[in-house]
Amino acid sequence: MTETIKGGLEGIIAGKTSISTVGKEGLDLTYRGYSIHDLAKKATFEEVVFLLLYNKLPTKSQLNTFIDQLASLRELPSSLQSVLKLIPKETNPMDVLRTGCSMLGTLEPEEGGRTQEDIAKRLLAVLPSMLLYWYQYHKGKGSIETTSESEKTIASHLLHLLYGHPANADQIRALDVALILHAEHEFNASTFTCRVITSTLSDFYSAITGGICALRGPLHGGADEAAMEQIGKFQSVEEAEQGVKAMLSKKEKIMGFGHRVYKYGDPRSDIIKEWAKNLSVKPQYKVLFSIAEKIEEVMFKEKHLYPNVDFYSALTYHFLGIPTLLFTPLFVISRTAGWCAHIFEQRANNRLIRPIAEYVGPLPMPFIPIEERT
Ligand code: SDX
Repeated sequence: MTETIKGGLEGIIAGKTSISTVGKEGLDLTYRGYSIHDLAKKATFEEVVFLLLYNKLPTKSQLNTFIDQLASLRELPSSLQSVLKLIPKETNPMDVLRTGCSMLGTLEPEEGGRTQEDIAKRLLAVLPSMLLYWYQYHKGKGSIETTSESEKTIASHLLHLLYGHPANADQIRALDVALILHAEHEFNASTFTCRVITSTLSDFYSAITGGICALRGPLHGGADEAAMEQIGKFQSVEEAEQGVKAMLSKKEKIMGFGHRVYKYGDPRSDIIKEWAKNLSVKPQYKVLFSIAEKIEEVMFKEKHLYPNVDFYSALTYHFLGIPTLLFTPLFVISRTAGWCAHIFEQRANNRLIRPIAEYVGPLPMPFIPIEERT
């Protein structure tokens, strides 16, 4: 008799990885052995991407070459621009990235002799262009220029495309840290999706598209947008306290809280909370931050649940002037680094991923001719 299955593969070791440690007893969250606290404080997102892809922190010259390579890969092919313009204004931007990634795969196919590293760098560089090209087109800005090589990093490039002018150093660093925190997280649902697709020997773009589709869900990456909607509903800490308690009494979920692996807090949350606090300079931002802290307090008291990375990331993005509908796409832009690293790792030692199920269906049945069926 198989032991009671918790569902959702909870607690099941589904394979090996050397890329990150999540919730391992006594171990901080680490990427390739480096603590997330060190990386968020001392590294840039491009250093972390290099670390994830090549299993080493880059030297200064390696980093400069890598940054220049990414900056040179931001251009959108004209047929991709045409497709992006055809995607309706009210589309979920996650569907824009899903479609754009697939379309790029038809224009620059892996079978075309490109290496997996080429495609990884291309996607990391061009996803911000895809997202903001579509977004600004439907804002009436026409076809914006996405190849601005004046902005060296992904964070600065993305904010420049969004703002229409260069962001300041604090804004760039805040986004850079958020991208670091979202870059990798072991066998989360979207990463595991990428590995399953990769294990069938399908192509790189199919795996990444699958990752985008999985991350879209509000139980996973979509929680940041849902958390912002929930925080933004309350006008005061008192209202937040009452509102959250009422939602909990109706068994509703408070987005941005809880985690399948972290039962005593998400190490990334405190880091991004600091950045949200640093950015809450306007009076209305201070109110929102205090409402968020009240929600955190109530969730601990009522459910002993902690905020995960999505909760204070939502506020950080909001305080950076990023529209809520672009929050989860930012998660894609960051997590593409982790997805690529896992695709590399799966390919390096591949075996088709195919678990089994506990059968709970009917016992063998005699076939009934259609004339006799009721
Ligand atoms: C991410 O896996 C990863 O690594 C993901 C991620 C990454 O970097 O890739 O960390 C990113 O996806 C973070 C999670 C973002 N999702 C949310 O914030 C959505 C809200 N959270 C929940 O849906 C939930 O906490 C999950 C999905 C994150 C985890 O769910 P589990 O492990 O399946 O836990 P569960 O749903 O079985 O909950 C256990 C109990 C239940 O109460 P009881 O029925 O036992 O009384 O906790 C309650 C749940 O109702 N609960 C919540 C809650 N989360 C759990 N109650 C209210 N609000 C919540 N957010």
